[in-house]
Amino acid sequence: MKVLITGAAGQLGVELVQHCIEMGDDVVAADRSDVDITDAAAVDAFLAQHLPDAVINAAAYTAVDACETNVDIAQAVNGTAVGIVSAACEKFGAHLVHVSTDYVFDGTLDRPYLETDETNPQSVYGRTKLAGEIAAGSAASIARTSWVCGEYGDNMVKLILRLAAGDTPLAFVDDQRGHPSFTADLAPALRTLALERRAGTFHLTNGGAVSWFEFVGDILEAAGHQRGRVSPIATADLDPPRPAPRPANSVLDNAAWKAAGKEPLRDFRAPLTELVARLT
Ligand SMILES: NC(=O)c1ccc[n+]([C@@H]2O[C@H](COP(=O)([O-])OP(=O)(O)OC[C@H]3O[C@@H](n4cnc5c(N)ncnc54)[C@H](OP(=O)(O)O)[C@@H]3O)[C@@H](O)[C@H]2O)c1
Repeated sequence: MKVLITGAAGQLGVELVQHCIEMGDDVVAADRSDVDITDAAAVDAFLAQHLPDAVINAAAYTAVDACETNVDIAQAVNGTAVGIVSAACEKFGAHLVHVSTDYVFDGTLDRPYLETDETNPQSVYGRTKLAGEIAAGSAASIARTSWVCGEYGDNMVKLILRLAAGDTPLAFVDDQRGHPSFTADLAPALRTLALERRAGTFHLTNGGAVSWFEFVGDILEAAGHQRGRVSPIATADLDPPRPAPRPANSVLDNAAWKAAGKEPLRDFRAPLTELVARLT
């Protein structure tokens, strides 16, 4: 497969590039300096030049709180640009795999979210990512994931390993639940969607639902610290409150992936242990 990966210098992008190269793909790794996905002429020219079989779009404006004030940038990158990439994919015969998020939901459901559940984003980030899903079109694979961590880029695992080295008291919310998801496991699943050109929406996360408080406890334990170093707080007690609201329930049922006969991604504690071993 010849695969073009946008957002190739991002947390997920770096892992995707490495994995696809390992699998023997012909990889075109593109970050913003290679092609700005908001620039239709540049995207068109880039696809015309490389003629990939598939495009995995891992480019996004992911600063969730900053999106609340930088609405135009969020809409341009997370929404409009996906339509640009999708149109170029259609023109040049490439299958599009587009990465999306649990933030398209409002988090009020009392069970894990299915792909078919109604979306109702509560933040600018969530609304613009939903616009991107719509712009990707019905021929694309849309992969919603959550709480992404990996070796590259900033994430909760790296933050906790840094904080655990000092003696700062740790307090994390116990009323937002989700599935931590690791780029090492996401990359092969996204590549499969690209290779099999599977149209539709797929929830793709590691297994094991936890609150952020519980997840931090698991990270501490994996790194040999006492999990008792973290205490639980409520979202309402965050001071100052975060500008963008987060869903209380971010748990995504990977129903479509399982219905396609695919092996569910591992419980998150397995890739967590592997990542902590690599980072420490
Ligand atoms: N991180 C999470 O917890 C999480 C959760 C759910 C879903 N997701 C989704 O997963 C995907 C990957 O996220 P990530 O954590 O890997 O994010 P990331 O580390 O922020 O990577 C995003 C990449 O996109 C690039 N980019 C931004 N604007 C661009 C543009 N106009 N043209 C080309 N490239 C551009 C960024 O480059 P610059 O650095 O130059 O801006 C960055 O390299 C995204 O679709 C995100 O919405 C992430």
